[in-house]
Formats: sequence, C-alpha cells, structure tokens
Amino acid sequence: MARIAIYPGSFDPVTNGHLDIVKRGLKLFDKIIVTILYNPGKETLFSVEERLGMLRESVKSLSHIEIDRYDGLLVDYAAKRKAHAILRGMRAVSDFEYEFQMALMNRRLNREIQTVFLMTGLRWIFASSSIIKEAARFGGNIEGMVPPLVLEKLKIKFGQKQEDS
Ligand code: PNS
Repeated sequence: MARIAIYPGSFDPVTNGHLDIVKRGLKLFDKIIVTILYNPGKETLFSVEERLGMLRESVKSLSHIEIDRYDGLLVDYAAKRKAHAILRGMRAVSDFEYEFQMALMNRRLNREIQTVFLMTGLRWIFASSSIIKEAARFGGNIEGMVPPLVLEKLKIKFGQKQEDS
C-alpha cells in the first residue's frame, strides 16, 4: 500500500525551506500531497489561487507530488485522502511549542494519523515565509531563499516590478 503524507501549510508563499522538506519527505513517503489550509492566526499576502500557482510551478520537476487546497480540519482532509501521516518541518526551538500543540490536537482529533517532523536544513533554519516577506517588502535581496517565480511575484506584489503583459 502506498504511504501517503499530507504536507500542510499556509505557503504564503512557498520557500526553498518548504521545498527542502518536500524533497526529503519523498525519501520517506511514496506520495506527498502539499495542501494549502486556512490558518486563522495569519493574514495572507497572496490569494489561495496565487499560492496554488506558485506551489505547482515550484514542484513541477518532481514526481509523486500533488498540490491541493482544503477548507476545514487538517485531520479530516488527511482521512479523506487516506493519508498515513502529516508532514511538518521544524526549524528552531521557537517552532516547537506551536508544532507540539498542533500535533497533540490533531492526534486527539484522529489517532490514526501520525505527525512526522523533519528538521529543517541548516540553510533554511531562519527562512520563514513571514521574515522573507518582510525583507522583500523593504527591497531586501531574498534571492536563493525562494523559487525564482516566487521572487518575481514578491517583487510585483511590493511594486518593485511591473507584471509582464
Ligand atoms: O504554515 P502554517 O500557517 O504554520 O500552517 C498551519 C496550518 C494551515 C497547517 C494549520 O493552521 C491548519 O492545520 N489549519 C487547518 C485547521 C486545523 O485543522 N487546525 C489544526 C487543529 S485545530
């Protein structure tokens, strides 16, 4: 039976740190479904459609990856997709409490689905979508931290570049 993991998140926008987790996750799972879910604690910069587009473009060279969205509980989605695990990246100590709470709540909601954490690669340890957006907003160079398409979209979003017609 194929081992399926859901890699959930806001992906606002997808970063090279996220892609590192996806690629490493593929060594553990037969298929990874990268799913955009709603985080009530975050206001997003990009629409769901924009985030889906950036994710699709960023993983187009990879096999055994699907991109999706879901409006509801993560564990319900995982059960619907017959997934065995929820995959999350863990950066530094600061991520731990939030991730621990979420994993325990998800376990309480559905005991059949395991949360698996991969430690973020050292290169990406401080590369959150939020900090990248902040640097980009003020014209900071974030090349190499996000896929090229995301870099372009951030420049357009912050008025540093015109959209190609
Ligand atoms: O990238 P993020 O914002 O840290 O991802 C958090 C996300 C979207 C995975 C989380 O907020 C989520 O699972 N949202 C859907 C609702 C849900 O199931 N919440 C967790 C249990 S209450």
